[in-house]
Amino acid sequence: MANNLLQGKRGVISGALDENSIAWKVAERCVAQGATIVLTNAPVAMRMGEINNLAEKINAQIIPADATDMADLENLFGKSVEILGGPLDFVLHSIGMSLNVRKKKDYTDLNYEWMQKSFDISAISFHRMMQTLYKMDAMNDWGSILGLTYIAAQRTFPDYSEMAESKALLESFARSFGYHWALKKQVRVNTISQSPTKTTAGSGVKGFGEFYDYADKMSPLGNASADACADYCVAMFSDYTRMVTMQNLYHDGGFSSMGMNPAVLGL
Ligand SMILES: NC(=O)c1ccc[n+]([C@@H]2O[C@H](COP(=O)([O-])OP(=O)(O)OC[C@H]3O[C@@H](n4cnc5c(N)ncnc54)[C@H](O)[C@@H]3O)[C@@H](O)[C@H]2O)c1
Repeated sequence: MANNLLQGKRGVISGALDENSIAWKVAERCVAQGATIVLTNAPVAMRMGEINNLAEKINAQIIPADATDMADLENLFGKSVEILGGPLDFVLHSIGMSLNVRKKKDYTDLNYEWMQKSFDISAISFHRMMQTLYKMDAMNDWGSILGLTYIAAQRTFPDYSEMAESKALLESFARSFGYHWALKKQVRVNTISQSPTKTTAGSGVKGFGEFYDYADKMSPLGNASADACADYCVAMFSDYTRMVTMQNLYHDGGFSSMGMNPAVLGL
């Protein structure tokens, strides 16, 4: 399905950790559609080394950046503009991590220092990225900025813990900064609310396997895959979605509109 939808466009894609990562698929799809991109991830993620295989495969450079560090972000976007030869047409924020979830803390017994770190990594980093790009004037007119989110921002999924609040914050940043970006450069800012997906971040949530199967049954189209999410990201980076901004867009096979699905009850 290579239609050159992103021919001539330049982008930065964060969050490709291994080949299961949603960002990994997005990077592959964007390049297949004609874009040139820079990959980025936290310096610690570099140690796993898998991102190098992706970079080689799609002929992209990697610039390590901790998304909670302003100097790293300035370096990331400054160098990306240099390497790609001009301002950016699209940026993907595909970053999430909860310390309390990782350390298996109960929602009724959360550590607040860890919570703040989780918010910084998973949500405030989105604002940090947008503010850095804004101050550096590093986006092109009619560019597109995307973040990935989950429906726990709207509904309660107990094991998702403080990530629910992280996602609520992330989605709010898309709306609030979307206004400023629209005025400055007609840049659109949206979040895509994705189905449960078998990745490192996803599988870190307790009971993920059961929950994945439940969501799959509840959604009339089934769970949306990482590949399908990548296709949607391409659409959102393409010129066919220029007037879509400040939205939280469900990409979930219909899950968010379901009340009850007989398939779940085995009827
Ligand atoms: N997997 C799911 O079920 C699911 C569902 C909906 C939304 N999402 C969201 O999709 C996004 C991508 O996650 P994924 O599922 O592909 O998992 P993933 O584990 O492959 O990706 C998460 C990425 O965040 C990066 N990261 C962590 N801390 C960082 C930091 N300080 N600076 C820069 N990068 C950092 C990790 O290195 C990793 O590459 C996340 O925002 C996640 O919440 C995932």
